Amino acid sequence: MRYSIKSGAIEKVAADCLIVPVWSKSALSAEANHLDEVSGKALSAVVKSGDFSGRLGETYLLYKTPGVRSRRILIIGVGERKKLDARAAVKMLKATAKAVAKTQAESTHYAMASVEVTDRDAAWLAARLSQELEETCYRFDTTKSKNVKKPSLKLASMTAPAGARRKGLSEALKQGQAIGKAINRAKQLGNLPGNVCTPTFLANEAQILAAKNKSIATQILSEKQMARLGMGSLLSVAAGSAEEAKLIVINYRGSDTSSRPYVLVGKGITFDTGGISLKSPAAMDEMKFDMCGAASVVASMGCVAELKLPINVIGIVAAAENMPGSKATKPGDVVTSMSGKTIEILNTDAEGRLVLCDALTYAERFKPRTIIDIATLTGAAVATFGSQANVMLSNDERLAETLLQCGEESLDRAWQLPLWDEYQSLIDSNFADIANIGGPRAGTITAACFLSRFTESQKWAHLDIAGSAWQSGAQKGATGRPVGMLMQYLLTQKA
Ligand code: BES
Ligand code: MN
Ligand code: ZN
Repeated sequence: MRYSIKSGAIEKVAADCLIVPVWSKSALSAEANHLDEVSGKALSAVVKSGDFSGRLGETYLLYKTPGVRSRRILIIGVGERKKLDARAAVKMLKATAKAVAKTQAESTHYAMASVEVTDRDAAWLAARLSQELEETCYRFDTTKSKNVKKPSLKLASMTAPAGARRKGLSEALKQGQAIGKAINRAKQLGNLPGNVCTPTFLANEAQILAAKNKSIATQILSEKQMARLGMGSLLSVAAGSAEEAKLIVINYRGSDTSSRPYVLVGKGITFDTGGISLKSPAAMDEMKFDMCGAASVVASMGCVAELKLPINVIGIVAAAENMPGSKATKPGDVVTSMSGKTIEILNTDAEGRLVLCDALTYAERFKPRTIIDIATLTGAAVATFGSQANVMLSNDERLAETLLQCGEESLDRAWQLPLWDEYQSLIDSNFADIANIGGPRAGTITAACFLSRFTESQKWAHLDIAGSAWQSGAQKGATGRPVGMLMQYLLTQKA
């Protein structure tokens, strides 16, 4: 999609679809009023008919309106004037994008310069406009034999609000587009089946990033190299699989070498059968999404490079397939992690923490400013929070606060759980330093407790995205979360 800012009379804009807002109780916006006058009351005819009230997200299409050059007018309900906050605005932008994408329009113009969002500025609205349009136009068709009909949109423009800086707005459009594309990339990686998206496939994706961006260098560690580093925990997960595990290191340099990096670590289980502690068949297909943390890291790294952020960022993906087999790890097996700590594996289905702990230890060598891991880690997170929240735990209150704020700002929201010392004893083991499960209670917290044993010297936060990373049922598919939140974090950090 190409984005631009257009000035001048909106009735003269020659778009396939002109978007105009109407407030609730049929109150015409400045733009709607203007078009109503030039068209001989075409818009007031619609609201007077009672067919359109201006409810938030309501849409109505008009064709061949006299006095208006655009082929269609899409009227969008923006709800109550003083109540359009950021969340309502996103709902409105999603409904708008969906309605435009359903038509054959190849170009669209947003004539909503008069619309103000109560808790955000005009640049935010512009960035969100492009982000939502990109997201809405995403379709998965890679593994369909017949082409999936995709939206025809190629051009989008907007009228700048009075007093807004044009340059700032076009930067915002670009930024929103980059984030939207990154979210789509995370969705795409997540949606690919386990027989396509293997650890090797993910490693290849990272290498493509490096080939496309001079500011990115990628390093792929093989099982042999990991064995030399003593990553017995990560390797124990891959032991039952014919697919080789990979530790993928994506290094983005946007600042001096001396500037300490921000590190993102993603869980990349490309399929989670549970291993010897085999999962039940119901919805097991969804365990192809068990690499959505990794997908969010790869996508964010690409976005960071595209936006040329003035910081150093390192993305690490711990990629493996969790399978049963004659060489697979068994319950009761004890392995030694790279940190030297021994782990009793009581349940091979608690594999995410086993790959992450070695990746977190590996990350220490980069002297991270902060380290954030992103993982579809526990069913307990889904049971408690459903699909809405990224569940966050941290050993650093300031980092936790910042991430919560970034969640609110991007509306890719997080909720914090306690990481109290009192929970730590739940992962005690009689045979090793730590057990990899903590029993049936407080599952999301004990998983984080496990990880905290490997990040004691770091400013670290953990995002359990088991509920937020994908949708089940008829809408089954990856959501691209929490790329929005991660990008909000990286965009606001300093070198
Ligand atoms: N990938 C799963 C977590 C998961 C399960 C995410 C269902 C989304 C939906 C993870 O590897 C896992 O199996 N976790 C176990 C841990 C348990 C054995 C302590 C779980 O949550 O059941
Ligand atoms: Mn598992
Ligand atoms: Zn898993």
